Amino acid sequence: MSADPANLEHRRARSGRATAHVAALLAVLALGLGLAACGKLLTTAPEPGDLFDAPLDGLSATELAAFTEGDAQFGRPFSVTEGLGPIFNNVSCASCHSGDGRGRPENALTRFSRGTDPAHDIGGPQLQDRAIPGAEAEQLPAGVDRSRRLPPPVFGMGILEAIPEADILANADPTDSNGDGISGRPNWVTPPDFLPAHGGAPVVGRFSRKAQVSSILEQTIAAYHQDIGITTDFLAVENTNPLASVATEAADHVADPELPAAAVRSVVAYLRMLAPPTPGADSPARDRGRVVFGTIGCVSCHVRSFRTGPSTIPALANRDVALYSDLLLHDMGDGLADGRPDGQADGREWRTTPLWGLRVMRAFLNGQAFLLHDGRARSVAEAIEAHGGEAAAARDAYQALPEADRAALVDFVESR
Ligand code: HEC
Ligand code: HEC
Repeated sequence: MSADPANLEHRRARSGRATAHVAALLAVLALGLGLAACGKLLTTAPEPGDLFDAPLDGLSATELAAFTEGDAQFGRPFSVTEGLGPIFNNVSCASCHSGDGRGRPENALTRFSRGTDPAHDIGGPQLQDRAIPGAEAEQLPAGVDRSRRLPPPVFGMGILEAIPEADILANADPTDSNGDGISGRPNWVTPPDFLPAHGGAPVVGRFSRKAQVSSILEQTIAAYHQDIGITTDFLAVENTNPLASVATEAADHVADPELPAAAVRSVVAYLRMLAPPTPGADSPARDRGRVVFGTIGCVSCHVRSFRTGPSTIPALANRDVALYSDLLLHDMGDGLADGRPDGQADGREWRTTPLWGLRVMRAFLNGQAFLLHDGRARSVAEAIEAHGGEAAAARDAYQALPEADRAALVDFVESR
């Protein structure tokens, strides 16, 4: 996971050798099976732009050092004697956000999907399905449904954060006043009290599947608390299982807070400086795909680009980013609905997923792809087919395309 330049070089050399072996093996296999096309897989060593854990270009030496430190913290697994639990989902950030890219189905989180029945409002926002010895893992209470959420990639978080709020709001059209059937709206969230000096005013949420999280800092503190069972200077009281028959918190003997604010901030700095992979080269087919992406209305939600505002990290300031997301909420229809409200998002709405890193995702997932909030789609085509609600017209237009245009569109998206 380490990514200081020296290690990057080393890793590239190493993975270059490994890739050469794989390529040789594939070539033999391809000859044997007559599948010559396989030979084009993995024939070159990954460049930084192919990685999910490379730093932004243009960081200073001090910033790179902070990046490397945060990288280690992000990968740090916690043991029981270091405060893991009492209830938890996994032992480190990296164990769910594998390689910093899209997660795998086995790393999905289950959020309680209670609808609007307050009687079910028990147990916190998510199911902690693991517990340390002496504690009791949570179970889904009767009458409560589940919302499965695949970990999103964590690169590019500093970019999401540096987009001016006014520019996100400029694309909102909550009442569909332009009559295009698409009514993106922001998820206004009030930052929780555990965040220092936020002033209590609502902000446009940008993070997580329903944009229900206000900042990288909030996301990180909550992830330590909820996902790993690690208390911090910000949130020093353990998360417990209210339905357990034993006193869950008594099982964790480590004094709270278990992690200092500096370590949390180090992870935040790491996420801020993590670069998104670079998109693939243009080709005539991709140019066609880009055009189709516009004409059939994908761009209405997956807006092509934003420009970041000022930032304390110069490499993040005033740069154009091909995000392919409006960071707004959209009703995606019955098929994708999870029935769980998050902030102002209702049980049918999701944040438009940024389309980036798709070009290299399969290299990190054993050749597989897991798309959409719960990872149900195994390809870009399947993800499009699952679009409904406000995106139904774009989906129908996709289905009505001539075969060559459909292929060009999918190739364009997969090259982002
Ligand atoms: C049990 C698996 C798991 C662990 C452990 C975990 N995460 Fe996550 N993470 C998720 C899931 C699932 C989501 C999406 C949650 C949602 O949409 O409600 C997420 C969302 C995020 C996001 C928002 C990404 C975006 O596109 O907006 C960030 C940033 C993040 N996690 C950072 C962290 C950090 C930092 C840690 C460690 C302190 C961590 N995560 C630990 C599963 C995990
Ligand atoms: C009405 C807004 C809207 C339109 C129009 C739209 N999308 Fe989406 N798209 C979304 C939202 C919201 C999600 C997340 C849904 C979920 O996770 O359940 C998404 C998810 C995706 C994903 C999955 C990405 C991932 O990493 O999981 C792909 C691929 C995608 N869209 C491509 C397209 C293409 C191609 C088109 C045009 C045919 C299109 N979308 C049209 C809103 C839209």
